Amino acid sequence: MEHKIGDVPATSFVTLYCHAIESRSEHPILHDPKAEEITAELNRTLSRSEDPLDRRLASGRIDRNLVIHIAIRAKKYDEYARDFLAMHPGGVIVNIGCGLDSRFLRIDEGTVFFYDLDLPEIIDLKRRFFRETERYHFIASSVLDFRWMRMLLGLEGPFLFMAEGVFMYLEGERVRSLVLQLRETFPGSELICEVVNSFWLKKPLKTLIDWKMHERGHLGREAVFQSGIRDGREMEQWHPGIRFLGEWSYFDSDEEKLGWLRVFRYIGWVRKTQWTVRYFLG
Ligand SMILES: C[S@@+](CC[C@H](N)C(=O)[O-])C[C@H]1O[C@@H](n2cnc3c(N)ncnc32)[C@H](O)[C@@H]1O
Repeated sequence: MEHKIGDVPATSFVTLYCHAIESRSEHPILHDPKAEEITAELNRTLSRSEDPLDRRLASGRIDRNLVIHIAIRAKKYDEYARDFLAMHPGGVIVNIGCGLDSRFLRIDEGTVFFYDLDLPEIIDLKRRFFRETERYHFIASSVLDFRWMRMLLGLEGPFLFMAEGVFMYLEGERVRSLVLQLRETFPGSELICEVVNSFWLKKPLKTLIDWKMHERGHLGREAVFQSGIRDGREMEQWHPGIRFLGEWSYFDSDEEKLGWLRVFRYIGWVRKTQWTVRYFLG
């Protein structure tokens, strides 16, 4: 890499390495050969980096629970994508804040139109490992610069917008404007996004979250959670056309590797610390 990647975009390296590590493990939750290939290539640079996170990733020292959570999440979002395509062959999926993830390769069933959107510094890097095709495209833009939506205006849809591990890094007012703009530009679309419980974003709990991310997770100082919601229905208040369709937490997963952590599915405030919500944007 020619220049240092920012702290927030660098979080995509963590999820990429989680995919690769899990993919290489016995009975993997997620089969992701592309992540294995990319990390093998990145290791050569990251192992010599001055950044402790880079070196830690290259040496494969990532918290096992984090690897399992991220793999379970990616698998679930793959399932969401497949379910959408089963209902809407030829539909359009926009992977907001895609990072270096290879969802298109994992779920392509021959008809989907898939758009990977991320900041230009990540898309530049992504181009080294993936090729755009007639049905697979990159959008190098902040999701908050709404001009990117124009690229999709000629498409028939229907549209599914996915944001896996992204919205919490954005300011709350900006997430709200984004969701409202998606609704206005693509009425009838679906949004699936991961959210953090805003309960955890007030001091003193926020101090604990920051400590976990920086000291235990080794993320850069600028990678901080900025926003969340209190309840899955909260976004319904933003516009009468927004309809809550359901929610999912890692702890709901029946993956054996989750082990005893599955008990958290019965403890509401833990189950919904960081979880996924689905909406119809009408
Ligand atoms: C934790 S990573 C998740 C990557 C991927 N979704 C995954 O699960 O593997 C967060 C991603 O959000 C992207 N991101 C953060 N702010 C963004 C913005 N304003 N516009 C577009 N992407 C953004 C980062 O660059 C990064 O790739």
